[in-house]
Amino acid sequence: MLQAILSVDVGSGMVKGLSGDGRRVQFRSVLAPTREEGFDGVFSGEGPGYRVAIRFPDGERRNWLVGERALQSPLATMSLSYRKPQDIHDVLLLTAARLLVDCSGFGEVTLAAGVPLAIYLKDKDALKRRLLGLSAIIGVDDQEDRPIAFTRAEVYPQGAGVVLASMAAGSLPDGLTGVVDIGEYTTDILLIDVRGGRPILLSEEYRTSLTSGVYLVTRSIMSEFRRQTGVPLELAESAAVTWKALTGQVIVYNGRGYNLGDAASMAVREAGVLISRGIANTWGRKVGFLENVLLAGGGALIFEKVLAGILPSVRVVEDPIYANAVGYLMAVSSSGN
Ligand SMILES: Nc1ncnc2c1ncn2[C@@H]1O[C@H](COP(=O)(O)OP(=O)(O)OP(=O)(O)O)[C@@H](O)[C@H]1O
Ligand SMILES: [Mg+2]
Repeated sequence: MLQAILSVDVGSGMVKGLSGDGRRVQFRSVLAPTREEGFDGVFSGEGPGYRVAIRFPDGERRNWLVGERALQSPLATMSLSYRKPQDIHDVLLLTAARLLVDCSGFGEVTLAAGVPLAIYLKDKDALKRRLLGLSAIIGVDDQEDRPIAFTRAEVYPQGAGVVLASMAAGSLPDGLTGVVDIGEYTTDILLIDVRGGRPILLSEEYRTSLTSGVYLVTRSIMSEFRRQTGVPLELAESAAVTWKALTGQVIVYNGRGYNLGDAASMAVREAGVLISRGIANTWGRKVGFLENVLLAGGGALIFEKVLAGILPSVRVVEDPIYANAVGYLMAVSSSGN
């Protein structure tokens, strides 16, 4: 029987998924309801993202645009919160799972997922139970509908995945080490003491989820866009505009090009300082004794320079956006039932 192992990191900004047999998916955590069944064959492509049909056991088959594809709809929504609304979370998770499961057979599917560090102890059992009870029939793009359910589910704290992935890659040097996972909405931080390549977790006072991340930059860009154009941006569309601003691309609105690059640089500096201060406040005197700081998450590359000016020995881990998902996959693969 087919035995699939999946690791899905449903973030506020991006869904990252990996399977034991080496598949990978990544798409924006955005979705939009649609009734359209596809507009195939008119243009050659539909762009990134997915058209998804989901039927839950007690419901009817509903169509969604998921990921970047959802931005083609005025009904695109996303959520910034510690605890994601279940309806959004489940559609994103099941889309990733459907994309990751090999269709050649049906069988047992093990799922590894993560939650923000600060709510891990309180939420892990409830989430695990909910994931085990989750099932649906789901089709993505032109692939056939098929049932997805999880026979085993494990939940891990964000940031811990980064440590496990670094350990496996042999890039966890000894000494007091800070781990910083800067995501869209949360920055998960923890302190470990590495001895002989193995991590020892420092006590709970040194670990938390700060509610700061890339969205702080997005917020600044939204304000700047409103100031310059006189119209507000919706949250769901602002992520794409922010990405353009960060990468120096011109944003065209009403036939005029706007360059928000300077505003983006300033926003990165301000948000980076705020995040660094939150980290320094949590770690207190330990900051002075740090030997390494490992940076992960989509914010790692954006904030590396600012953080390196404030914290010692900052280094971006390999594959920073996937680091947690890689760690969860390793943890679930190496542990039994
Ligand atoms: N190469 C990249 N491709 C896409 N997004 C990137 C890239 N580098 C940085 N980003 C930014 O990183 C953000 C997402 O980072 P990440 O996936 O770590 O967050 P998340 O896990 O979804 O959020 P959270 O941990 O708060 O739930 C994106 O919104 C984007 O702005
Ligand atoms: Mg994350």
